[in-house]
Amino acid sequence: MTEPTLAQGENRRGVDVRVYDIILKKRRGCELSEEEINLLISRYTQGDIPDYQMSAFLMAVFFQGMSVKETHALTMAMAHSGETVDLSAIHGVKVDKHSTGGVGDKTTLVLAPLVASLGVPVAKMSGRGLGHTGGTLDKLESIPGFRVDLSKEEFVEAVNRVGIAVVGQTASIAPADKKLYALRDVTATVDSIPLIAASVCSKKLACGADAIVFDVKTGKGAFMKSQSDAEHLAELMVDIVRQAGRRGAALVSDMDQPLGYAVGNSLEVAEAIDTLRGEGPEDLRELCLSLGSLMIVLGGKAKSIEEARRNLEDSLNTGAALDKFRDLVFTQGGNAEVVDDPESLLPSARCLEAVPSSMSGYIKGINAENIGVASMMLGAGRRTKEDAIDPAAGIIILKKIGDRVEQGEPLAMLHTNDWHSLEPAAKLVMSSYEISEDKCNPPQLIYKVIEK
Ligand code: URA
Repeated sequence: MTEPTLAQGENRRGVDVRVYDIILKKRRGCELSEEEINLLISRYTQGDIPDYQMSAFLMAVFFQGMSVKETHALTMAMAHSGETVDLSAIHGVKVDKHSTGGVGDKTTLVLAPLVASLGVPVAKMSGRGLGHTGGTLDKLESIPGFRVDLSKEEFVEAVNRVGIAVVGQTASIAPADKKLYALRDVTATVDSIPLIAASVCSKKLACGADAIVFDVKTGKGAFMKSQSDAEHLAELMVDIVRQAGRRGAALVSDMDQPLGYAVGNSLEVAEAIDTLRGEGPEDLRELCLSLGSLMIVLGGKAKSIEEARRNLEDSLNTGAALDKFRDLVFTQGGNAEVVDDPESLLPSARCLEAVPSSMSGYIKGINAENIGVASMMLGAGRRTKEDAIDPAAGIIILKKIGDRVEQGEPLAMLHTNDWHSLEPAAKLVMSSYEISEDKCNPPQLIYKVIEK
């Protein structure tokens, strides 16, 4: 397609003609140059492009897509829109992991100490939860005393001394993504593969890791509802970080039901501790071993996935991974006794209520997104960024896909300190379950591994 040009003398007083041209070019399906993308991102970050023009651009991308070259340019422009973190003071190959977001996804709590226990330095910058998905920082802060606001010096010192630290991602990392994400959220342009890839990769690249493993979720509780879209996104993100000179690998994993059984901050910490003890839910353990194996290989601590997996299993069996979690909690000011007695030392809710099944049968489906929303209603999540959360609130799933249930038997247990929220949350949980008279198989956990 030929490049569009503006008609001479067209009356667009007050409208940035250059930006208009870029929007029109994208709307017509033409490939943008790196220079055009850089101009758009830098001027939008500075506040020189109004949201209405950027919204139009995002919608044009949503419908026309972006080439790999354009997506790479967009990622780099967003990564360089703010501070880029230099982790060179930390010894070794720093490996990061990113999940595209799920319900009950506490993998970082298990994975970070697990891979750190094998000598891969984990310098993790994480986010908070919003809407139906939880955030690692909120989960860790449910441990009494745990601080996520370490200074840069404390962060580097902790990783060099104990091999692991987890802090909040500062506002100065990829500010273009923050503005764009907020705009996408209100213009129905979140679920665009190039926009998600650029959003995720820009933050990860700016955070300075040498290698990044992506866990791309697919299913009812994920942005990517179809497996083929999830695979495309995973391949694109690996390609982008490799082009940027980092190592990359990815998994596509299931989010047709919550991961593990616990949803909600302190409940998830307790489940992560169980898993680090070698006793957690099978799906969570398997996902952590699979992601961990990729991280260990990328970090140069094993020659093959099989060798990495054996070493990770050993670390769970010997208690080395649990000890590393204890080090993390202690170093960041948390009560490390939580690791040995989570039941009495983590915050717990005053009101517990079981959600009974309305019929007998087999669990065919669980709407993970609605379980996340119900957990938010109980106090575990935020509707807006300003909301406070209740660390004790959440849901324990008692039946998962493939399980047999009898009428009246509990499907889930609600935990809250706000008894008013019990009734609407119970209704939502009940309606999230699809029950069939026929036997059903649990879904496959991992659909694809992108390693080479
Ligand atoms: N997570 C992100 O960080 N960005 C997206 O666009 C979607 C999920």
